[in-house]
Amino acid sequence: MTDLNSTSHSAAYFDELRDYWWNTDFLELIATRFNLSSFREVLDIGSGQGHWTRIIKGLVHQNAHLTGLEMEQEWVAHCRNQFDESAFSFVQGTAENIPYKDESFDLVTCQTVLIHVKAIPQVLSEMYRVLKPGGLLLLSEPSNIASSTVRTSISAERSIEERVKYHEARLIIEEGKRLAGEGDLSAGDLLPGLLQHHPFDDIQVYNSDICKPDIPPYDSSQQQAWIKTLRTWVKEDFAGWHDEELKRWVLKAGYDEDKFCSIKSILMNELSSQLRGIEDGTFHSASGSMAYVIGARKIS
Ligand SMILES: C[S@@+](CC[C@H](N)C(=O)[O-])C[C@H]1O[C@@H](n2cnc3c(N)ncnc32)[C@H](O)[C@@H]1O
Repeated sequence: MTDLNSTSHSAAYFDELRDYWWNTDFLELIATRFNLSSFREVLDIGSGQGHWTRIIKGLVHQNAHLTGLEMEQEWVAHCRNQFDESAFSFVQGTAENIPYKDESFDLVTCQTVLIHVKAIPQVLSEMYRVLKPGGLLLLSEPSNIASSTVRTSISAERSIEERVKYHEARLIIEEGKRLAGEGDLSAGDLLPGLLQHHPFDDIQVYNSDICKPDIPPYDSSQQQAWIKTLRTWVKEDFAGWHDEELKRWVLKAGYDEDKFCSIKSILMNELSSQLRGIEDGTFHSASGSMAYVIGARKIS
């Protein structure tokens, strides 16, 4: 469930919706394309509450051992409680200094983690270092800015000026977060090019095929999961990020406190209009998003 009180990283995003991020047959296709069933020693970096770790477990060799590396002790403890220790280990540590010897794993992976790190090249170097020759790096990272341009029944009715203001708000947030050294929310766009700085071979780039359409009467379990999160966010005046971080990023991007207030109100207006539209059964959107799956082989 979305937890707006925990100070641990990404707590607001560990909700039921995460269970609807993938189509099973798409994952099977990815597993076939990258021959995932051949991998036995797996490292999942930034494992959080283990959503991606669990998915990967179902795709790799049946006797594979998965290690989750995570900087937050709260999530390490959570996973140690939830997962069978004969097949999984969870370790506290950072992606910038992976606490393993060179060439330890045949699959190194992460989902929505590189969008939060300060220096992606340093993390890619570490991932490369701990991969065995011939091993696979598998990254699942989004372009949030692309997804933010998808129209809804509400935004499609807005003036160009209003739509530009919303997009500007999202750009300012992304730029401020990046300048604050807290990551690039659309890092997925640039990863294939960055991988070229290492001797990786056969870089392949795909896009997840899932859509999470909002269609009245919103009765799928996926839509119900989003409505639950949306209600909590609107009730708690949570715009998708905490006020302290939003303000920090807006100032870092070169704007002032008034701009932070205006951005916060643009974001909250978007969420509350959506909730009102859902409650009166008028809101709809195909709700497409851009989530890349990128694979690259370490040269043998
Ligand atoms: C958005 S969550 C993704 C969690 C998980 N991979 C998933 O897909 O459900 C990002 C996770 O990465 C962790 N994280 C962020 N930066 C990290 C770093 N530099 N080293 C290790 N973990 C990090 C956060 O604590 C958080 O648990």
